[in-house]
Amino acid sequence: MVSLSFAESAEDRRALAALDVPAARFTTPPQSLLASVDANPHMKAVAIRDDEGVAGYFAVETGPSISEVSADPADVLLRMLAVARSRRRRGIAREMLSTALEPFLCAHYPTSPRVLLLVSVANWGAHRLYLDCGFRDTGFARLGPWGRQRVLARTLGVTPL
Ligand SMILES: CC(C)(COP(=O)(O)OP(=O)(O)OC[C@H]1O[C@@H](n2cnc3c(N)ncnc32)[C@H](O)[C@@H]1OP(=O)(O)O)[C@@H](O)C(=O)NCCC(=O)NCCS
Repeated sequence: MVSLSFAESAEDRRALAALDVPAARFTTPPQSLLASVDANPHMKAVAIRDDEGVAGYFAVETGPSISEVSADPADVLLRMLAVARSRRRRGIAREMLSTALEPFLCAHYPTSPRVLLLVSVANWGAHRLYLDCGFRDTGFARLGPWGRQRVLARTLGVTPL
């Protein structure tokens, strides 16, 4: 079963930093994620766990610093999602997005109307995954580090597709 928790303790941060997620296209290594979180008081690191332990991570950001993708600072922006290389294609991200994300965000951000994410147009595997898990294109796009990115959103408080 996949579960989510904030990675705030030294032990959690070490577990994230030890994951095999090398710098590559579309991919933010754990050290960069932790540095981003440390530099932004509106951003937190989240550990993705399955039965074998920490398998991946993402960051959640809310507040004024998400204005580049949303006019509503109460929205939650999911960033830098990654699963460790050896654990990919086992359904971890799909289970996280379809069953664990909603209760986690509703518990920690009860007034947030939507969860947003950015996906590079060229990252078609991840794009399809997000659409499968109930995210929809908002019509907004921006230029990201790996080319054009679409802004996708899913309403919170509603059971995903
Ligand atoms: C994208 C990522 C988080 C998916 O994690 P995952 O746990 O391996 O994903 P799942 O096993 O749940 O895959 C679910 C679906 O996503 C799609 N998918 C995931 N990785 C894919 C790939 N490399 N190529 C094609 N499709 C892919 C498939 O539709 C897959 O379903 P299937 O296995 O039934 O065909 C992971 O591949 C990763 O860390 N990639 C590098 C970083 C990245 O691209 N992050 C997304 C930034 S927006």
